[in-house]
Amino acid sequence: MTDVLNATKITKRFGGLVAVHDVDFTIPEGSIVSLIGPNGAGKTTFFNIIAGIYDPTAGSIDFHGENMIARARRAWLEPFLWLTPPAILLLITLAISTSGNQVLTGLGIVFTILTLLGSMVTGVSRPLAYQRAIRRFGIFRSARPNDMVVAGLGRTFQNIRLFANMTAMDNVLVGMHSRLKTTWIDALLSTPRDRREEKTSRVRANELLTLVGLKGRGDVVAKNLPYGDQRRLEIARALASDPKLLLLDEPTAGMNPNETANLTRLIGRLRSELGLTVLLIEHDMRVVMGISDRVTVLDHGERIAEGTPDEVRRDPKVIEAYLGTPPA
Ligand SMILES: Nc1ncnc2c1ncn2[C@@H]1O[C@H](COP(=O)(O)OP(=O)(O)O)[C@@H](O)[C@H]1O
Ligand SMILES: [Mg+2]
Repeated sequence: MTDVLNATKITKRFGGLVAVHDVDFTIPEGSIVSLIGPNGAGKTTFFNIIAGIYDPTAGSIDFHGENMIARARRAWLEPFLWLTPPAILLLITLAISTSGNQVLTGLGIVFTILTLLGSMVTGVSRPLAYQRAIRRFGIFRSARPNDMVVAGLGRTFQNIRLFANMTAMDNVLVGMHSRLKTTWIDALLSTPRDRREEKTSRVRANELLTLVGLKGRGDVVAKNLPYGDQRRLEIARALASDPKLLLLDEPTAGMNPNETANLTRLIGRLRSELGLTVLLIEHDMRVVMGISDRVTVLDHGERIAEGTPDEVRRDPKVIEAYLGTPPA
């Protein structure tokens, strides 16, 4: 089986605090794997590294076999690369100007400025082709969160982060943004392509709302939904970017046992119905036991155990981490 994600020796320091230490972690395609551990174990930090939010202090992460995240290498070289094409044009322009041809000189200046602007825009927007190109010069910069979304990663947050004043439907439509093909020009002119995409987006958003159990609630403003439904809406929004791997950070936090059981079933269906691979982060061990193929346990930033739910549950190190005392 291939791995969707491969994290090697990930370490993250915040000042003197080592939040994650030397953690290896793989996520096989089609699996539901869980990362558990007591509060402060480093779970969210690890999660945020995968999502491209924090750069790791050390280690690297491959996503679909491509190295996406690691410490920056030779980043200082990048601005020089941006300046190289306009600098060459400028030199050519200067050479032309000595010949006294004013038209050609003027054109040279215009092209130099356009190339400079093009370089800057490319350097700021960092399209994938650009990132691959600069790697040939030995320059590496970690993927940003939006790069990870484009590469196929969906996520929810430990604390709900919906657009509170937007409807459930609009929250899902925003999540679809990275997959849309129409440009703002299409939107402005209301081209057929724009209208077609708008329609299929709404159909898809409705499907996703139905899947997470919010059928017919698309018009409700997000903040007016009950708490458990807001968490489901977050999942629908994450699904809207059509991810291959879904990261869920304590999705059942604050839920009652009934809501928790429902959400756990939903996670199982995400795999069976959408073919998703899921990484579930939890501090409550009971949530992950029924649905995980594999459980990894973090404590004080260290990986202290990994195995099937049953193996992990019986592991004395895990019991100690959770109860704070060695097992009798
Ligand atoms: N941005 C940050 N700056 C400084 N310390 C942080 C930051 N984020 C997390 N930490 C610390 O790192 C440790 C792990 O936190 P976290 O990853 O949130 O744990 P968990 O999600 O397992 O509860 C904690 O001691 C926390 O205080
Ligand atoms: Mg956390």
